[in-house]
Amino acid sequence: MTIVHAQGQCYLRMKQVQPDPMTRELTILGLESSCDDTAAAVVRGVAGQARVLASVVYGQTELHADFGGVVPEIAARAHAEKLDLCVEEAMAKAGIGFDALDAIAVTAGPGLIGGVLSGVMCAKGLAAATGLPIVGVNHLAGHALTPRLTDGAPFPYLMLLVSGGHCQFLIAEGPERFSRLGGTIDDAPGEAFDKTARLLGLPQPGGPHVEREAQSGDANRYPMPRPLLDRPGCDMSFSGLKTALLRARDSVVAEKGGLTLQDRADLAAGFQSAVAAILTEKSRRALLEYVALKPAKRSFAVAGGVAANSVIRAALMDVSAKLDTEFIAPPLALCTDNAAMIAYAGLERFAAGKSDDMALSARPRWPLDERSPALLGSGKKGAKA
Ligand code: KG4
Ligand code: ZN
Repeated sequence: MTIVHAQGQCYLRMKQVQPDPMTRELTILGLESSCDDTAAAVVRGVAGQARVLASVVYGQTELHADFGGVVPEIAARAHAEKLDLCVEEAMAKAGIGFDALDAIAVTAGPGLIGGVLSGVMCAKGLAAATGLPIVGVNHLAGHALTPRLTDGAPFPYLMLLVSGGHCQFLIAEGPERFSRLGGTIDDAPGEAFDKTARLLGLPQPGGPHVEREAQSGDANRYPMPRPLLDRPGCDMSFSGLKTALLRARDSVVAEKGGLTLQDRADLAAGFQSAVAAILTEKSRRALLEYVALKPAKRSFAVAGGVAANSVIRAALMDVSAKLDTEFIAPPLALCTDNAAMIAYAGLERFAAGKSDDMALSARPRWPLDERSPALLGSGKKGAKA
């Protein structure tokens, strides 16, 4: 039995003899606060077979709306204000008390340092009060392990993280073993969608609006470049697309004095089709590298907000089918930032006998594959994934 004193209160915690964490069911609380979503979730199960008992996400979109991007100080303050409410709500939704938990998992990076610190401090406070262990989680590992939470994907599988701040191909070989095959050398595709929306006078976040416009557009009217497709490998570049779009838009405006609705739809379609073509061709190359490893079961999974795009999703599904590989697209709520993925990644680490202590620190940068870290500038927002 341990007695933990916290804030003048005294908690009794009975230490029962527990079976091996490798095989027994674990219940993990997860916290996420690395960018502009404050989230808490409870996940229960074993590695490769777990379920979400509760997942709560408080977005901050309206707090940053006037600034054209995420303001780190505003984000950090909002996380600090909302985290404990989020935890309370997640625990109430899961219908359990702290005594039913095995550990507290928290995003320890990469991300905006103020936000990550808010989460780590909250986790330490909870750990001090309850005596529960802390498990620091890499936010990108959270995304990359989601196919195991949703579909029980066996290692190794190929993963494409494609969001507002990141774009990379990874082979997930184990809970903490990822090989990076390539990624963007400049903007992330979500960023490019957002900039395109701005150039076309559409609201933020731009992806869904550009997709809607593109539905009635002709992708061939304004052909956009497909950078780096002429070079081998899986690296990508998206920053040239917005310049091409800006030029195409300005020449229409110069000619006609403005954009018609059809012009706007055609520009959106041209842009989206270029992004889809780049992602599809680079996915094909990444799949070939993955298939060469001769995995017993082939799986290709996507995560990140851009994976919500139905044209991109269909193109990736198609290239996957051609190489006889199962395509996994987790439900959108688990593709975008959430704490269930952090709780699950924490479960995998804890089940492998790993945990942290009060010395756990927040890391603004933390590449998943330390052997081939992301190139500088890859995803200019950097912190997001
Ligand atoms: O993963 P996410 O929610 O947040 C992070 O970036 O961490 O991704 C958000 C990004 C935004 O840039 C948004 O414009 C883009 O995903 N996005 C889309 C679509 N829905 C969201 N991009 C293209 N098509 C969509 N339907
Ligand atoms: Zn993310």
